[in-house]
Amino acid sequence: MQSYRGKLAVLHGEQTDLQLSQALAVRLGVPLYHSVDKLTPELFFLSWREGCLKLLDKELLKKGGLSVDIQPRQGEQRSWPAPKEGALAQAVGRKTKTVVDATTGWAQDSLHLFRMGYDLRCIERSPVMLELLTDAFLRLSKLDWVMQLSLSVPVLLAGNAIDILPQLQFAPDCIYIDPMFPPKRKKSALPKKSMLILRDLLGDDIDRELLFDVAWQATAKKVVVKSPDYAPPLGGKPSMSFKSKLLRYDVYVKN
Ligand SMILES: C[S@@+](CC[C@H](N)C(=O)[O-])C[C@H]1O[C@@H](n2cnc3c(N)ncnc32)[C@H](O)[C@@H]1O
Repeated sequence: MQSYRGKLAVLHGEQTDLQLSQALAVRLGVPLYHSVDKLTPELFFLSWREGCLKLLDKELLKKGGLSVDIQPRQGEQRSWPAPKEGALAQAVGRKTKTVVDATTGWAQDSLHLFRMGYDLRCIERSPVMLELLTDAFLRLSKLDWVMQLSLSVPVLLAGNAIDILPQLQFAPDCIYIDPMFPPKRKKSALPKKSMLILRDLLGDDIDRELLFDVAWQATAKKVVVKSPDYAPPLGGKPSMSFKSKLLRYDVYVKN
């Protein structure tokens, strides 16, 4: 398991059961603190605040922190299935039923796919992100509309997609990949804080080309790659591309 020693700690807040914080610190092999000051060596913290598990850096300590946002995006309806609209839906396609998100991260794409009614499984390898996702999917399962429709929240698979994809019991219609690419030197747009903190904590996904190759072998029909507009296509010339603001969805279709 990736070592977070010296980089990450659990910060226990008053609102939570101490045993929860202790168990989290043990699972991740990091220290547990009751307060943090300038001399605290770690740069990142996990803490339960306002009913969510949150990731913080020193800048966010007072502001509140980042949790996986389970609310629908602006313009997207709360019900299920939401209309299949936008570049992501176009890339994944209307005929697609089963999707595996191989790089779940903050699950914003996964949750969008879930709300559009795709049958979804989510893979994530970072133990910190897995903790945040487990917390989020539990919150998701308790939302009124999810309970009223008796929906099962997406299955979360922990580990490296390069190992997991070849072992899937079925070939999904679509495998979705959104790895971390190196930032452009001349910044055209400032990435969101949630993505900046992820890059600081985890680094770039340097094995993304291998992940594409494995996904191509494992999919029944297509692989969709989300990438910044400046990055070359991950799998060579795509069958088609859908452009959105500052990013591109490259679609690779099997014949
Ligand atoms: C750019 S983020 C994904 C953001 C996500 N699409 C969203 O909407 O929030 C990339 C994530 O994929 C994960 N990841 C990258 N390569 C992976 C792999 N081979 N197996 C599992 N997870 C991977 C990283 O740990 C990171 O959390």
